[in-house]
Amino acid sequence: MTVRRYDVITLMPETFSGWLDAGLLGKARASGRIRVELTNPRSFTTDAHRTVDDVPYGGGAGMVLMAPPLIAALEDVDARAGSSGRRILLTPQGRPFGQADARRLAQLPHVVLVCGRYEGFDERIAAFVHEEISVGDYVLFGGEVAAMVVLEATIRLVPGVLGNARSSGEESFESGLLEYPQWTRPAVFRGMAVPDVLRSGDHAAIARFRRKEALRRTALRRPDLLARATLDETDRALLDEIAREPFPAGGQTGSSD
Ligand SMILES: C[S@@+](CC[C@H](N)C(=O)[O-])C[C@H]1O[C@@H](n2cnc3c(N)ncnc32)[C@H](O)[C@@H]1O
Repeated sequence: MTVRRYDVITLMPETFSGWLDAGLLGKARASGRIRVELTNPRSFTTDAHRTVDDVPYGGGAGMVLMAPPLIAALEDVDARAGSSGRRILLTPQGRPFGQADARRLAQLPHVVLVCGRYEGFDERIAAFVHEEISVGDYVLFGGEVAAMVVLEATIRLVPGVLGNARSSGEESFESGLLEYPQWTRPAVFRGMAVPDVLRSGDHAAIARFRRKEALRRTALRRPDLLARATLDETDRALLDEIAREPFPAGGQTGSSD
């Protein structure tokens, strides 16, 4: 079993407690498949006040994280791990993170995530990392929640972490489409019934229904994904069928307006 190691450089390691032990992530850590280590750059300061930030050159609001403690933390992490991790800076200015990145990172033995705080980092820190990643076009207080997003998406793709290996392959984004809708008991809830085909036991009909609904959902909510998806003849026939069907009343289009 290859153990994957994830290091997080954070000024607020306490943010991760609870989350690290919960659910499948907690199980993966307990099983020894993955290891997550937290390192506080404040431990690498040299002054009495343990200073990690300072005012920006040129003036302006807020404080900027200094390079020396962060780089010392990065170098200490690699020394302790005995390997050079893939270093990732979390920043709203980075490349948008997606499922393909999670798949790529899940293959790597050692990943190091650097969380910012305040107004961000001294620009020179960028020279010490391999990539810069954003989790979305919005600004968070700090990189900790962003690190959790990247770690969860990555760790659940590490072999053996999800009990049922099939379940990640069929999920949204893995096949280029959104996942099909799902129902569970009761069969009828407040007048809304589960589609008959799902209770028919006809596996071929269920597979066709699910593929069609994945195509329909993606066409309605994420036409950008559908345009890039690899589709075969059957998919095209299903899309033709969908186009001939009446538009569902109240169907979600992805817009919240
Ligand atoms: C308040 S933000 C700083 C934002 C910075 N002043 C800017 O405009 O780019 C503090 C830290 O939170 C993290 N952060 C905030 N939003 C993020 C996002 N969308 N993706 C990844 N990290 C983010 C980064 O580590 C960032 O250095």
